[in-house]
Amino acid sequence: MKSLDPTLTLSWRKLKKHFLKMKNMHLKDLFKKDIYRFQKFSLNMKNVMLIDYSKNRITEKTLLYLLDLAKEFDLEGSIRSLFQGKYINVTENKPVLHTALRNFNKTEIFVKHENISIKINEVLLKIKNFSSQIIKKKWTGYTGKYIKSIVNIGIGGSHLGPEMVIESLTPYKNHLNIYFISNLDGSNVTEVLKKINFESTIFLISSKTFTTEETITNAKTVKNLFLQQPNVLLSDISKHFFAISMNKKEVIKFGIHKENFFPLWDWVGGRYSLWSSMGLSIALSVGYENFSLLLQGAHDMDNHFLNTPLEKNIPVLLGLISIWYSNFFCAETEGIFVYDQYMHVFSRYLQQAYMESNGKRVDRNKNIVSWQTGAIIWGEPGTNGQHSFYQLLHQGTKLVPSDFIIPIKTHNQIGDHHIKLLSHFFAQTRALAFGKSLKELLNQKKDIQINKKKINTDFLIYQECPGNQPTNSFLLDEITPYTLGNLIALYEHKIFTQGVILNIYSFDQWGVELGKEVAKDILSTLKMNSLCNSYDSSTNALINFYKKS
Ligand code: F6P
Repeated sequence: MKSLDPTLTLSWRKLKKHFLKMKNMHLKDLFKKDIYRFQKFSLNMKNVMLIDYSKNRITEKTLLYLLDLAKEFDLEGSIRSLFQGKYINVTENKPVLHTALRNFNKTEIFVKHENISIKINEVLLKIKNFSSQIIKKKWTGYTGKYIKSIVNIGIGGSHLGPEMVIESLTPYKNHLNIYFISNLDGSNVTEVLKKINFESTIFLISSKTFTTEETITNAKTVKNLFLQQPNVLLSDISKHFFAISMNKKEVIKFGIHKENFFPLWDWVGGRYSLWSSMGLSIALSVGYENFSLLLQGAHDMDNHFLNTPLEKNIPVLLGLISIWYSNFFCAETEGIFVYDQYMHVFSRYLQQAYMESNGKRVDRNKNIVSWQTGAIIWGEPGTNGQHSFYQLLHQGTKLVPSDFIIPIKTHNQIGDHHIKLLSHFFAQTRALAFGKSLKELLNQKKDIQINKKKINTDFLIYQECPGNQPTNSFLLDEITPYTLGNLIALYEHKIFTQGVILNIYSFDQWGVELGKEVAKDILSTLKMNSLCNSYDSSTNALINFYKKS
């Protein structure tokens, strides 16, 4: 991967100059000037989704310079490196091969002379067989009852991806109840356990490292409570506890039967792991067929990313446009607004994917960056957000580029809900782009107040919406396992594109380690009887306040 200071590239300099012309340009004018804007800045991925990026503050020239920037970074070379399993996770000395997990047709992918396709297919078969046994009620618990509930115990990538997919695919769910325990807060485990019966529940302990404090604490609590159930034997653990991890040694130490171990590998990043055995809860919840359609959808997006020229490559284009906003317009955040209730976890899932990947401050040359890297990602499902934070988007002082996502076909055709939902979806991107000027407001008032003497314009300024808020619209055919897989992979590759060009390492997450380290130290302090004086005055005072309470 090429390591350059992006701000010193020729294209960056051109973009800087170009920005001076663009910064005050209104979307209204851009649309007026060019009636073919939609045709130029949209992509129809037949039967999957239409992506419209015409409501962005860009011109053909902007894209030209951004694409030049991608070329200066040899983005195409980096994409090839990703798929070829090169060691692009440099700081952890690993390849990054989540794309291999969804590459069914390939029979040979080598990592250190080992053909990982064989291992991938073995695990897929294991997922297929096990999920089928559970779904078909051929697996029974310690009292002979068949399994009704699945509890996934995991956090971060070992939680968010599976939960997001399962929630998004609710219409495909079978009879199994799926619960997630992620938080260290004992209330999480307590409340989930109130809903299940140990006799008919299996627990998936999902932790790539099998050392994550939250997960191991929750898993130990659940195991201890399980062993306290009447007539439970130690050997019954094998009927109820399963592990998804790359740390077999710790899994066995925990007391999980070796047959109940679903492996994953260090070339799968936690936040990119839902395609691996980490997706076991997905296969259990919606069936293996649907799980494999999810993988297929992602694989087809992989092919698009790998084989499409940059100027038609959707994750590349969207990634470049994000860089344009964060580095030239100084946009700090990006909104992800999904007009589909089932996809309510999507923006939370993307928060980890984006912010853990591109929340970095040192470039690939070990220099502190002088440019913006990852944006803050946030969002709520539409239309809820409209009655909350959209006010700031329409009339606040911040530029918030946003993605609006909606399925054309709904899974719940009730009355006129969906057509109304669509009307809000189209209305918001239009209103955000074009706003409403004082002149338009005045004309509207005049129309209404015909024949009346005086129009009160005192507070008209408060109603003005300046518009010019950029959005991308994603119209998915329907939320299916296939289209969802396609959409998730699109975002994964958008993140990758940004990481390459912002010259950072997207696949490590050293920052999260500091909090873990400090908490470990503080825990030992909390367990001591004496008051604490070893930290700063604020932390000491907070700890001592707790100790005295
Ligand atoms: O601490 C962050 C992190 O490492 C994430 O990247 C990961 O998804 C999560 O913790 C869970 O890790 P594990 O699967 O090893 O328990």
